[in-house]
Amino acid sequence: MIKLETESPAETYNLGRRIAKGIRAGDVLAFKGELGSGKTTLIQGIIEGLGVGERVQSPSFVLVRTYQADFEIKHVDLYRLDPQGADGLHLEEIYNEDGVMLVEWADHAGWLPGTLSRVEMAFVPDDPLHRRITVNGPIQKRLA
Ligand SMILES: Nc1ncnc2c1ncn2[C@@H]1O[C@H](COP(=O)(O)OP(=O)(O)O)[C@@H](O)[C@H]1O
Ligand SMILES: [Mg+2]
Repeated sequence: MIKLETESPAETYNLGRRIAKGIRAGDVLAFKGELGSGKTTLIQGIIEGLGVGERVQSPSFVLVRTYQADFEIKHVDLYRLDPQGADGLHLEEIYNEDGVMLVEWADHAGWLPGTLSRVEMAFVPDDPLHRRITVNGPIQKRLA
């Protein structure tokens, strides 16, 4: 497990750009953390770091946004799905093993691929700009 901390949204965004350097086609990253903990901010940095020039908006209403870099990137947000519900978005149907999938609220997913990395984001009490971030899984070894 890698433990990281950031002290501003910009730092989280830049951490995303750093994480992007370790991402390869086929990677799936599952993001966990309360609303406002910074998942989208981190992913915005990742997607920019993967070479996407366009603005990355939260997919919380559309569930999935797709970007094209050297490979296809799917940014998924399952917040609006019922955690128990097998209905809604079926990740197995949109999963592309040649692309990269970044999933917010992955714990609401009915299905996840067997191999994935997990990123957990947490608030720090009494410090609104501070976040604690842990990274587990294959991506861990590729973070310099
Ligand atoms: N260190 C930090 N990292 C990321 N976001 C932060 C940080 N400090 C404050 N924030 C604020 O917290 C919010 C994070 O929102 P967002 O990235 O959409 O979170 P989530 O996708 O987890 O709901 C933003 O309003 C951002 O400005
Ligand atoms: Mg979000």
